Amino acid sequence: MERKIRVGVVGLGWPGQRHLEAYLKHPQVEVIGLCDTNPVLLASIQSKYGVERGYGDFDDLLAVDELDAVSICTPNFLHQPMICAALAAGKHTLCEKPLAATLAQGELAAMAARESDRICMIGFSRRYREDSRLVKSLVDAGELGQIYHVRTGWLRRRWNPSVQGWFLSKQLSGGGPLIDLGVHMLDLALWFMGSPKAVSVSGSVSHHLGNTLSQTSSIDVEDLASAYIRLDNGATVILETSWVSYSGTGDHIFCQLMGTHGGAKIEFSAPTPVPPLEVYVDHAGVPLAAIPALPVGHETADVHFFNEISEFIAAIQENRQPASPIEHGLEILRILDAIYRSAETGAEIRLDRSSELAVAV
Ligand SMILES: NC(=O)c1ccc[n+]([C@@H]2O[C@H](COP(=O)([O-])OP(=O)(O)OC[C@H]3O[C@@H](n4cnc5c(N)ncnc54)[C@H](O)[C@@H]3O)[C@@H](O)[C@H]2O)c1
Repeated sequence: MERKIRVGVVGLGWPGQRHLEAYLKHPQVEVIGLCDTNPVLLASIQSKYGVERGYGDFDDLLAVDELDAVSICTPNFLHQPMICAALAAGKHTLCEKPLAATLAQGELAAMAARESDRICMIGFSRRYREDSRLVKSLVDAGELGQIYHVRTGWLRRRWNPSVQGWFLSKQLSGGGPLIDLGVHMLDLALWFMGSPKAVSVSGSVSHHLGNTLSQTSSIDVEDLASAYIRLDNGATVILETSWVSYSGTGDHIFCQLMGTHGGAKIEFSAPTPVPPLEVYVDHAGVPLAAIPALPVGHETADVHFFNEISEFIAAIQENRQPASPIEHGLEILRILDAIYRSAETGAEIRLDRSSELAVAV
C-alpha cells in the first residue's frame, strides 16, 4: 500500500474548510496541520475537525518536515508569495482560484512552478463537478463536433455580505466579480474546448451599484464586467459577471456551448423544474433536447471538492501534471488582465504570443 500523503491547509474560510473536509475523507491522506492568522478561527477549526497542530505563521507550517503538500486558501494577494514559499520548501501545492491577484504575480508563481519538481495545481473547483465532467466527456468524444461559441457567466443579483474586506480592494483581490466569479466560468469555457489560447479581448467594467449596496464606500473594484474573447482555434466566448445587478432573481450561473454537431447548457443555479444540464443534438433530422441523468447529490460542494482533492493527490502519487495545472491559471490571468486593460482604454487588446512561441520553438 502506498504511503499516505501528509497535507496542511492554510486559510480556513469557507474554501479552506471544504479542502480540509475532503482531505479528512480521503483514505490516502493524513492531515498534519492547519494555519490561519485568526487564532480564534484556527482553534475552533482544530477542535471541530480534531487536528492537533495549528500554526499562526505559514512558515512554521512549511517547516514541518513530514509535510508533503499544502492547500492555499488565503486571500488572492497571498497566493503568489505562498505558492513560491511552499514550492521552495519542497511541498506540492494546491492553490485556490485565482492563481494570483495580478498577471505579474501569476507569472512569478508559474516561473517558480516550472523550476520546481513539485506538483502545482489551481483549484478550479467547477471543473470537478459531475455535470461539468459529463459535458467535458461529450466534447472530448466529439459528440458536439467543434465548439465554435460559448456564452458563459455568473450574474449575481444581490450583493453577498460575505464579500467584504480584502475582496473590495483592487490591490488585494485583483478585481471584483470578474476575478472572483468570472474566473470559474472562463476557466470552464476554455477547459471544455481543450484549452485554446486567447488572441484578442474586448472588455468593459461597471461601477454603478457596488458602493450603494455593499454598505461600504471604499470599493475600488467593478460590480459588473463583460467581455468578448477570440481564441486561436477560431472560437469565441462571451463572458458576463456581476456581484450585484438587476439581472434576475438570484445567482445566474451558466455555461452554454455551441458546436458543429450539438450543444450543451449547464445552469448551475437552475431552480427546479429547470434542468441543470441539457444537451442539444439532431437525431434522425429531429432537433432534440436531452437531459442527462446525473448521480443523486452530484451538485453538492462536498462532491466536487472531494473530486478536486482526489485529483491533486493522484497527481502527486503518479508524479504527473494535474488536470488543472498552474499554466491554465496563468492563461486565465492573461485574459482577465486584457479585459481590465480593454475596459480602461476602450479598445480591443491583442494578446502577443510571440514570446511564448519563441519559448515553445
Ligand atoms: N473554489 C471556490 O469555490 C471558492 C469559494 C470561495 C473562495 N475561494 C477562494 O479562496 C480564497 C479565500 O477566500 P475566502 O472566502 O475563504 O476568504 P476569507 O477572507 O473569508 O478567508 C481567508 C482566510 O485566510 C486567513 N488568512 C489571511 N491571511 C493569512 C495569512 N497570512 N496566513 C494564514 N492565514 C491567513 C484569514 O484569517 C481567513 O480565515 C480566495 O482566493 C477566494 O477566491 C474559492
